[in-house]
Amino acid sequence: MAQTTSMQHSEIAAIDAGAVLRWYDRHARYLPWRVSPADRAKGAKPNPYFVWLSEIMLQQTTIAAVRKYFAAFTSLWPTVEDLAAAPLDDVLVQWAGLGYYARARNLHACAVAVVAHHGGVFPKTASALRDLPGIGDYTSAAIAAICHDEQVAVIDGNVDRVVARYLALPSPVREEKPLVRATVQHSVPPRAGDFAQAMMDLGATICAPRRANCLLCPLEPDCLGTKTGNPLAFPVPPKKSEKPRRHGHAFIIRNPNGKVFLRQRGPKGMLAKMTETPGSEWTETRLAPAFPFINDWHQVGEVLHTFTHFHLTLTVWSVTADTPLDEGWWAEETRLDGEALPSLFRKVLKTAGIE
Ligand code: ADE
Repeated sequence: MAQTTSMQHSEIAAIDAGAVLRWYDRHARYLPWRVSPADRAKGAKPNPYFVWLSEIMLQQTTIAAVRKYFAAFTSLWPTVEDLAAAPLDDVLVQWAGLGYYARARNLHACAVAVVAHHGGVFPKTASALRDLPGIGDYTSAAIAAICHDEQVAVIDGNVDRVVARYLALPSPVREEKPLVRATVQHSVPPRAGDFAQAMMDLGATICAPRRANCLLCPLEPDCLGTKTGNPLAFPVPPKKSEKPRRHGHAFIIRNPNGKVFLRQRGPKGMLAKMTETPGSEWTETRLAPAFPFINDWHQVGEVLHTFTHFHLTLTVWSVTADTPLDEGWWAEETRLDGEALPSLFRKVLKTAGIE
């Protein structure tokens, strides 16, 4: 295998798909939405609704965290028709904690579109899937490969890392996307779905971010990263761009009956329409708190949270008062599971001892 930087087809390195599949046949992880390679060989087909749901959830977080959400969604809404018929607010409540709520809205919109325009059947090709809400290059390729063995490249962060090490790419992956894509595309075998999942499993278990178990890796014989003696040097890290920090205040109002005051966020912007504790705007400079009413407010702590584009520091204040604000509702402190509270506000409440 020769390392190349040229995009000419004949010079693109191939990944040994046969070796990857032999490894997967023995070591595939058990996942609730996955058909094992043995069952796949016997003709069992993955459920496209499960595959789609899991892929959207996995864009947010780890497999360990997704298991719980996947179980809740599929028990409440076993089919895409059920999910499409559910009120969006119920979907947002179940999604709470996963973050990035635009994805939950798109998830629901996609279910509605599959039912309204495709008779409840997910389209079979990556290009048709890409027309649905919330389905981009990665998800369309993953669904088409996993469900129908379309021979398309499925590239997530794990696969980026495996390929960056395999080729010992000298620049950050972000600058080498075309080469990574061409390498994977050039290597996809007829068992495209198992290959895609094998590459992701390999990245998650063997060729992990801070650990490379090269002795167990089916790609070790041709891996240029291993040959350098320091595979963990790849992918080369991107130059750091500092995220800005914003500041704000959160106001926890608890009444003597064990209730806490919550309200709905505005219809636009970050965490739109989700539930929150009352609070200030988030600003670049740290401002003094403007309490919603005069009382004996005391500071109970600070919450640090990181969004995609900025860090946030919220100073958390609490008061015991039976004083509701104009808009919002009292919620039982012991029954917050049914509220569409993003992780940020769960952290805020936890700071005041409410979980
Ligand atoms: N990460 C995201 N999707 C995955 C899949 N289908 N298999 C393994 N890891 C994944």
